[in-house]
Amino acid sequence: MLHEIPILDDVDARKLPYTESGGAKQVYLETYGCQMNVSDSEIVAAVLRKEGYGLTRDARSADVILLNTCAIRENAEQKVRHRLGHLQARKRKVGGALRIGVLGCMAERLRHKLLEQEKLVDFGGGPAASRALPRLLRESDETGQAAINVQLSREETYADIAPVRMDSNGVTAFVSIMRGCDNMCAFCVVPFTRGRERSRPVATIVDECRQLIDDGYKEVTLLGQNVNSYRDGAVTFAELLLRVSSLAPDLRIRYSTSHPKDCTDELLHVHRERANVCNYIHLPVQHGNTEVLQRMRRGYTVDEYLRLIGRARAICPDVSLSTDIITGFCGETEAEHTDTLALMEAVRYDHAYMFMYSERPGTYAARKYTDDVPQTVKKGRLSEVIQLQTSIAAENNQREIGRIHTVLSEGGSRRSTAQLRGRTDTNKMVVFDRQGYEKGQYISVRITACTSATLMGKAVGMTQQER
Ligand code: SAH
Ligand code: SF4
Ligand code: F3S
Repeated sequence: MLHEIPILDDVDARKLPYTESGGAKQVYLETYGCQMNVSDSEIVAAVLRKEGYGLTRDARSADVILLNTCAIRENAEQKVRHRLGHLQARKRKVGGALRIGVLGCMAERLRHKLLEQEKLVDFGGGPAASRALPRLLRESDETGQAAINVQLSREETYADIAPVRMDSNGVTAFVSIMRGCDNMCAFCVVPFTRGRERSRPVATIVDECRQLIDDGYKEVTLLGQNVNSYRDGAVTFAELLLRVSSLAPDLRIRYSTSHPKDCTDELLHVHRERANVCNYIHLPVQHGNTEVLQRMRRGYTVDEYLRLIGRARAICPDVSLSTDIITGFCGETEAEHTDTLALMEAVRYDHAYMFMYSERPGTYAARKYTDDVPQTVKKGRLSEVIQLQTSIAAENNQREIGRIHTVLSEGGSRRSTAQLRGRTDTNKMVVFDRQGYEKGQYISVRITACTSATLMGKAVGMTQQER
């Protein structure tokens, strides 16, 4: 489910939203990794459908199996390797006609290794290869040979392709606004797998959002690795947000991810001025010690980061903040680690995505530093970080009890059809009794109880804009 997708991070595989037979061949597509990958899969599905392929949610009935993969941490890759092992076994059982392909960041990173050395797949394409897929598939069919396209593109933004929406709730959708990343944080593989940063033309973004509104969607999440560097001519990210937010007052707008080094006051003012730009910002800090941040090449100090948080809270009262944190980066001392805990105490995030450092081949850190924090220490520090965050989130959520929030209902709760779930403006998940309300409505909900991850409440009426 959407709200549980760690922001720009790996999750368990997601499948196509529905089966749509009719094509001569059926494609099954499984998606790993971040929201950008989900967004890419939506484009891949659209390209293949246009070429006459059917889409299936059932791997057993597929002629082509595609894994859209993630390379952000070693365990993300291991998951895919494991899955490929299973699929190979299946292929041996059903015979040669089944085609298996890897797409996305791992395909880009491992290039020929998966195809030629390990013979795990029949074809592969990096994140910029969606358009070439039908050709790769044909080549692999015709020649029986492995086919690959991992060319990184300076231009491809898929601006003209109408995606097949993976999120079948019909309420919330992802819209990619840029691709690639030029930041070169020392630990990160993304610039290598996704190539140079490029922004999609503003008109195509606005058109896509307009289409989503016409199709009944109520929320869009604008996606990019660093949305703050979005630029189309004179149009900055803040200006883009203004334009998208003026399309319809009842369309909620979220975005991910904004890099702290260039989060502007102009952007914060858009949050303040536009009621439908959600009062929530994901500002990944990564670490609470300036020397470590420098080693990470993040481009800001702890002081600068804290000043930004101060400005965000001054301009946007009650703004909800979340972050990403890495423990056990190269050379991290116990004292440096303690600084991360102190920063978390100072900011008191509503939510955090927390990871152990995983060395990625080819990155600056892999080339210049030693991955010298023992696994057990990394793990121990991660547990401390998680424990602290869980208690902070629980305390923050306790304060919500008694408040009334406008919740955009995304559909039935996982536990019971008698309940609905949806998020507050501040991105907190709320579960409440259905009481005749529907998916896609804005509902006022009084918060009555909470855990560290979810709020429970009672619907008290429809919100003004939906009446
Ligand atoms: N572009 C986003 C981050 C995308 S990757 C940003 O800069 O904010 C999502 C998160 O994965 C990162 O914020 C970081 O916390 C984590 N991550 C990236 N590379 C990692 C690595 N090598 N080991 C552990 N965590 C990593
Ligand atoms: Fe990776 Fe840094 Fe780019 Fe984020 S900003 S994708 S962490 S290089
Ligand atoms: Fe996303 Fe993983 Fe690639 S986090 S950008 S799919 S390496």
